[in-house]
Amino acid sequence: MNGTFMPGEKDWRTINEVRAEAIVCCRCDLCYTRTNVVFGEGPSPSGMMIVGEGPGREEDEQGKPFVGAAGRELNKVLSLAGLDRGQIWVTNIVRCRPAMRVDDVLRNRPPRMEEIKACDLWMSAEVQFVSPKVIVCLGAVPAQALIGRNFKMEDGRGRWYQSKFSIPTTATYHPAYVLRLRGADRERIESLMIVDFKTASSKLVG
Ligand code: URA
Repeated sequence: MNGTFMPGEKDWRTINEVRAEAIVCCRCDLCYTRTNVVFGEGPSPSGMMIVGEGPGREEDEQGKPFVGAAGRELNKVLSLAGLDRGQIWVTNIVRCRPAMRVDDVLRNRPPRMEEIKACDLWMSAEVQFVSPKVIVCLGAVPAQALIGRNFKMEDGRGRWYQSKFSIPTTATYHPAYVLRLRGADRERIESLMIVDFKTASSKLVG
């Protein structure tokens, strides 16, 4: 894929060197509207990598992934699955907020294919340095980029694939989707996410 980092191609020695270059990136037009680049965060190396769709307003303001309402929901599901977010590398398939102006207000939108391709250099570098045993995609957008363009949440969720990085990869629901549900529907989807994260966690043992 365009922009993929091949080992040895760049002379980054640490993830912090990658970050230093990524935070001034202008490989796509999102650099003109972002406040901050939202690089991945967590321990490197790490057994698990979580990949979201793209930063929202609060992430753009703070330059950190999943710090808004979706992040709080993610933290809740992780802790119910017995996982500590501090042990996981959390990132997004694009590192600048994809937004559109509606009635003079910036609203989140899904990232475009060319934005995902431009950000693939950083995705690939994060994977090289973090070296996860498993990758968990949140929602269909990162799953389509990492697992396959025809991925559909209805039948693909909870299954395991080799990602384009040859790392066991699965997909579960995006926490922002959970927040749009109410009552029993929300509980059911949260339970499925917990199952998916427990399964991912079980693959880290041994
Ligand atoms: N939604 C995402 O996909 N990523 C974030 O970092 C925040 C919200």
